[in-house]
Amino acid sequence: MTETVYYKIDEIKQNDGKNKMETWIIFKDCVYDVTEFLAKDEHPGGVELIQEFAGKCATKAFLNVGHSRDATRLLATFKIGEVAQEDRTTDATKLKTNNGVNRIERSFISRLTCGILS
Ligand code: HEM
Repeated sequence: MTETVYYKIDEIKQNDGKNKMETWIIFKDCVYDVTEFLAKDEHPGGVELIQEFAGKCATKAFLNVGHSRDATRLLATFKIGEVAQEDRTTDATKLKTNNGVNRIERSFISRLTCGILS
């Protein structure tokens, strides 16, 4: 298994598709490089909807659309790493703070989210 790469939020933000930068998005604490996907213009919802989340967290937007399992599998193919532990702000971390979930449960949540996609 390859070692997980962790990205700081500042680096993720820089990859916003502008000035020849790549386009990265965050989904459930994982980082995806969707540059090629956008270049191929293959998103049924259009490139703009994804570009809106370039360098940012697209978790809620992606889930709200009710994307299919195939869409989630496709997203998984673009995974390049995970958000650095200290920079996590998405749902999984919120669960941790709101419900006082401990590290073992957090790792279970990780498996449910990033784990399935790895
Ligand atoms: C890079 C990550 C994404 C991938 C791989 C992806 C993939 C897909 C796929 C495969 C579909 C076809 C329907 C399905 O299988 O569910 C779809 C539809 C759609 N996606 Fe995404 N999507 C992504 C991100 C987003 C984001 C961030 C939004 C923002 C709201 C979005 C909005 C939509 C909409 C509105 C449709 C429906 C289009 C229609 O049926 O006319 N997608 N997406």
